[in-house]
Amino acid sequence: MVRLLDAALLGAVLLSSAVNAVDKIIQDCGSSLGARCPESKPCCSQYGQCGVGAFCLGGCDPKWSLTKDYCVPHPTCKSKVSRFPNDKSVISKLKYLGDASKHDWVLEGAAVYHDNQIILTMPKNSAGAVLSSTEYVWYGKISATLRTSRGAGVVSSFITMSDMKDEIDFEWIGDNLQKTESNWYWQGVPDYTHGGKHEVKDTFASFHTYEIDWQPEMVRWSIDGKELRRLEKKSTYNETSKTYQFPQTPSRVQLSLWPGGLESNAEGTVKWAGGYIDWDNHVDMKTNGYYSVIVKEISIECYNPPANAQKKGDKAYTYSSERGLEADVVISNEQTVLKTLIGTGMNMTADDATGLEGVETIPGLSSAGTGATSVSKDREEQTSNDGSSGSGSSSGTGRAVGPGGFSQNLENDKSEAPANKMQGSMFAIIIAVAAIIVI
Ligand SMILES: *[C@@H]1O[C@H](CO)[C@@H](O)[C@H](O)[C@H]1NC(C)=O
Ligand SMILES: *[C@@H]1O[C@H](CO)[C@@H](O)[C@H](O)[C@H]1NC(C)=O
Repeated sequence: MVRLLDAALLGAVLLSSAVNAVDKIIQDCGSSLGARCPESKPCCSQYGQCGVGAFCLGGCDPKWSLTKDYCVPHPTCKSKVSRFPNDKSVISKLKYLGDASKHDWVLEGAAVYHDNQIILTMPKNSAGAVLSSTEYVWYGKISATLRTSRGAGVVSSFITMSDMKDEIDFEWIGDNLQKTESNWYWQGVPDYTHGGKHEVKDTFASFHTYEIDWQPEMVRWSIDGKELRRLEKKSTYNETSKTYQFPQTPSRVQLSLWPGGLESNAEGTVKWAGGYIDWDNHVDMKTNGYYSVIVKEISIECYNPPANAQKKGDKAYTYSSERGLEADVVISNEQTVLKTLIGTGMNMTADDATGLEGVETIPGLSSAGTGATSVSKDREEQTSNDGSSGSGSSSGTGRAVGPGGFSQNLENDKSEAPANKMQGSMFAIIIAVAAIIVI
């Protein structure tokens, strides 16, 4: 369900707590519209909006950007185990330029660091949070040890997602803590027959280790070392197109927490998510000031690329064709880092915003007035000017007791870009997607 679909996404709506108004989010590009991005803003983001800078980094869609080469080459897989003693390995999406050697994770929304864990938070009326790996995985064993959120309308997820919209999921609905949902998609084709449901003992109260073992010939989903499900590549062959409809392109690892049960969502979405979110009286809102997903550890073990891969180096993934199949992936030594958020894959050193007024550089920040000009001058300054830096004070709770029974002063929290300032276009789209799925 956490995916972009081939369906009309116009008029997606999200509660914007910053102005306490409802923002209309319009999709610019993608298969649902059959539209590529224009020359003035050539990169199509993960959620179907056009811009430069961060739009051309992780999630940039090669099929629906002006051409695939506007997407910046993506850093290749590095095996690692992440824990979170502090925020050092995490960078705000507002500041990330593509340098995976400095940070392992990109954060949208607000997080709290406690006891070596990262806690993704969703304060009142916010769009929640997403943690995305800076490096892409092209087959690997990925596991996350986490406690999900709980409560009606609250959705937690752990997925792999490629720029071609190949996707492998674990997902949790907050009103049923004894169930984990599994799913997969190929190139964003809206086939909803792949979902699986698995029994698991209280995903909120206890840590479990969820594992996606993604091999070139099969995917295995496991919980606490026990295999629950297996997808064989050969079972996905389409005789008509002579194509394996199997997740097969480099993917980011994404963990997220998002509101399915918003008043502004379609009834079907709200129903799927277990009802409306209680922003005021739910015990987690009362004690912490937010819903949360607690992530203790994320492990990524990279597998070797397929034997016949196009290999000209080892630093970056790009595509030789917009077809987006395994054989189209190229591993090279191309640069992955933009000089500024004015850049694109076609001009990585661009730093002159002349003529770019009004062009967006960070998906989801449009209504916060992220103009190209301010970004090029000083991203740090821009960050504070648009109110997106600093603490998750929106929750207004001051000292709060965390879900693990700890205390956390949110006012001093170093998290960047609280979700309420995110004006979350990405989540609006997800929510709209959810709405459409259920219809
Ligand atoms: C197989 O491929 C054809 C041609 O691309 C497509 O129309 C059809 O929907 C595919 N079948 C499945 C089950 O996806
Ligand atoms: C890249 O952008 C800069 C200005 O930001 C410009 O001076 C330079 O000519 C551009 N390079 C290319 C190849 O377009």
